[in-house]
Amino acid sequence: MPDTHRIRLDTGQTIDCPAQINLLEALRNAGLNVRKACRNGICGLCRCRVVSGEFTYHWKEPHGLWQKDIEQGFILPCIAHAVTDLELDHIVLVTDAEG
Ligand code: FES
Repeated sequence: MPDTHRIRLDTGQTIDCPAQINLLEALRNAGLNVRKACRNGICGLCRCRVVSGEFTYHWKEPHGLWQKDIEQGFILPCIAHAVTDLELDHIVLVTDAEG
């Protein structure tokens, strides 16, 4: 199993995601100011959608998602780790208005 997976975004950007960090950390390390608050799968602010690839929450539960979100492929990157290379979309960045 490789130590680093590739994350492709709908912007065309591709970033590296080392196995030991979660997807939110990988996105923010790449300079993307992804919206977040709790960093623990509760608030749902960080949610984005998996287009392809596999991820794991390990023992954590995505409490911040509704069932219909999960059915549509939404995940909480603050508690998700890549298992394979991934393709993500619907990433919400902090706007200037939000600070
Ligand atoms: S930051 Fe709250 S669910 Fe991810």
